[in-house]
Amino acid sequence: MKAHAITDRIYALHADIDTADLFEGIWPIPHGVSLNSYLVKGEKVALIDLVRDWAGAPEALEAEIAQAGLFLDKIDYLILNHLEPDHTGWLAEYKRRNPKVEIISTAKGIELVKSFYKITEGLRAVKSGDILDLGGGMVLRFEEAPNVHWPETMVTYEPESGVLFACDAFGGYGKLGDRVFDDQFSAEEHAFFEKESLRYYANIVSSFGLFVKRAVQKLSALDIKVVAPSHGIVWRKNPKEIIERYVKYANYMDGPQEKEICVVWGSMYGNTKKGLDAVIAGIEEEGVPYSIHRVPNEDASFVLADAYKSAGIVVAMPTYEYKMFPPMAYILSLFERKHVWNRKAFRLGSWGWVGGAKKEYDELVAPLKWDSLESEEWAGGPDEAKLEALREKGRELARRVKSA
Ligand code: FEO
Repeated sequence: MKAHAITDRIYALHADIDTADLFEGIWPIPHGVSLNSYLVKGEKVALIDLVRDWAGAPEALEAEIAQAGLFLDKIDYLILNHLEPDHTGWLAEYKRRNPKVEIISTAKGIELVKSFYKITEGLRAVKSGDILDLGGGMVLRFEEAPNVHWPETMVTYEPESGVLFACDAFGGYGKLGDRVFDDQFSAEEHAFFEKESLRYYANIVSSFGLFVKRAVQKLSALDIKVVAPSHGIVWRKNPKEIIERYVKYANYMDGPQEKEICVVWGSMYGNTKKGLDAVIAGIEEEGVPYSIHRVPNEDASFVLADAYKSAGIVVAMPTYEYKMFPPMAYILSLFERKHVWNRKAFRLGSWGWVGGAKKEYDELVAPLKWDSLESEEWAGGPDEAKLEALREKGRELARRVKSA
């Protein structure tokens, strides 16, 4: 990893995190994630966003700052767009290494600096429209962007170059390696990063879709030439691509979504799966693309990514101890939390001794505003009549998705 010049005075720095740890303690990152920071040189020097002491990130940051001709203790300002510890976990140690650095964030961010890291001096709170003059014609302007990703978040803008330091907005999972700019990656690599940006959005940002839309609207007044997020690719050739992609993601919340179906299923002994196979046959007859995820075998992170973009949802699970198959209850609670709203949906499942899944399911999906077909349940294994009814439900759901 190395420092990449965005201009002759602005550098992109990043640490690739390669770990079995879960992001936020929840989400798997099998392809890693980058923690991006930025160095801005005027007569004074600002570092925008820090790192967590995670998989060698502080060492990578220090080495890249040296490549840009500087040292950690020669930085005058540390700008914290966002206080989540993936960007600030190393703050107490950094402050010890550079005690004269002035830390700049929103008022809420400064409060978090105090509560997380017990730092009480050398703090400056800023608000929308405030500027920091680094001298030599280099000026940074701050814009609050609350809840993209937490309430204290802001973005930083450098008007001369048009670089927007966007923090979590416009970010994605995936290690970058020795390249950081959009024009350095092939179409195939972009397809990979697009998938990982959707998964990142669905996992991390989707609860805040309304705020994403508001922030994009607010930032549209700026002449953005480079989008420099705190995770993932730096967009200098086509910054509009990632901005428009995020708007599309934010709109998935209420629709329109992709004309696809996300099938989520769990089965104890195969009877629900037999019924599901008939539903899938019906979907295939109508030619609607679908993704399929078995829970709990597959992690919720991947289920969410496909569910979040799909106009149709199939939920297949048996009754378990008078209620739903428990892993599905977790998935549905995430759908509620992550705003998987306004879908065409269908539920099916078997029961052995007694039913009970329906009541819990209906309660969990009530806030989701789903347009649902009548559920199908059966005792034990599905008979031929049930299988034909299930096939027709698959066809009907697919037709509804096509016309959505
Ligand atoms: Fe990348 Fe919300 O922190």
